[in-house]
Amino acid sequence: MKITNFEGRTAYITGGSSGIGLAIAKQLASRGAGVIIFSRQADLLKSAIREIENCRVSEGQRFSYMQVDVSQYEMTEKVLSNAVSEFGSPDILINSAGIAYPQKFEDTPYEKFDDILKVNLYGTWNTIHCLLPYLKQKKGYIVNTSSIAGFIGVFGMTSYSASKFAIIGFSEALRSELKSYGVTVSVLCPPDVDTPMLEKSNMIKPAEAKALSSTADIMTPEAVASFLVKAMSREDFLLIPNVSGKFTHLLKRLLPGLTERIIDSKIKSVQKNLKTANKKI
Ligand SMILES: NC(=O)c1ccc[n+]([C@@H]2O[C@H](COP(=O)([O-])OP(=O)(O)OC[C@H]3O[C@@H](n4cnc5c(N)ncnc54)[C@H](OP(=O)(O)O)[C@@H]3O)[C@@H](O)[C@H]2O)c1
Repeated sequence: MKITNFEGRTAYITGGSSGIGLAIAKQLASRGAGVIIFSRQADLLKSAIREIENCRVSEGQRFSYMQVDVSQYEMTEKVLSNAVSEFGSPDILINSAGIAYPQKFEDTPYEKFDDILKVNLYGTWNTIHCLLPYLKQKKGYIVNTSSIAGFIGVFGMTSYSASKFAIIGFSEALRSELKSYGVTVSVLCPPDVDTPMLEKSNMIKPAEAKALSSTADIMTPEAVASFLVKAMSREDFLLIPNVSGKFTHLLKRLLPGLTERIIDSKIKSVQKNLKTANKKI
């Protein structure tokens, strides 16, 4: 279902207590939607819901939050079923909950890989699986969150890229299955966005990944959210909010060999500079 008017709609947003999810929650609230946000930490949820409430445009809008770890299926099922009883079924489901822990494959313990896949991929599967009957009834709209790292394998991001490539494949297959029910599926692929996740990631990224991202665009969460609400009126599947991200996607599809060579040469030059710097010390 194309959404041009958000008034009277109910949106469930995982990861709505921070960053991109919070910015989307505020955009939808300012356009008349009721918003329920879901994540783990109660203090973040409480302060986020106050910000969302400040965007209210009508008395009838309902805002609330619920604590859940989306990587846990049984907990997610219980919490979402309580949410439906209390606030009604969602017209919109935004899956923005996610984690990143950039490090080289050879430094990554199994537990970190497992955590990233469980939150980013299984978390998305879990919420959709629990809410699908309601989304079918409402002919709803599902937005899953991938990344530019969901179509370009990024140095230092083997676990994260694996989860975000999987989100695109999962969403593409799901889009095809749900079309006949009138349920729309889109996948959002932002570049680097100025959020707590990026700040934490930048502190631990390998030098090569830092050098690559230093030349890339950084968007604000608000700009990503404005792009998304406009894009939802067009029902496009792949939602890339920035021009260089769109160009990278095209280049990778049309000239994959050239894309690899460009990335390899950037990494080689960073590694050469690092070696020279280490020799000087
Ligand atoms: N920032 C970027 O550069 C960037 C770029 C491309 C794509 N993305 C994607 O965009 C999405 C949002 O990222 P962000 O940058 O906005 O990150 P963020 O500011 O760190 O927000 C992440 C949100 O997810 C929640 N969350 C994390 N683990 C969870 C779990 N197990 N269960 C429920 N909620 C959980 C967090 O709250 P709690 O910790 O309290 O649970 C928080 O609300 C992610 O999927 C990310 O991969 C981000």
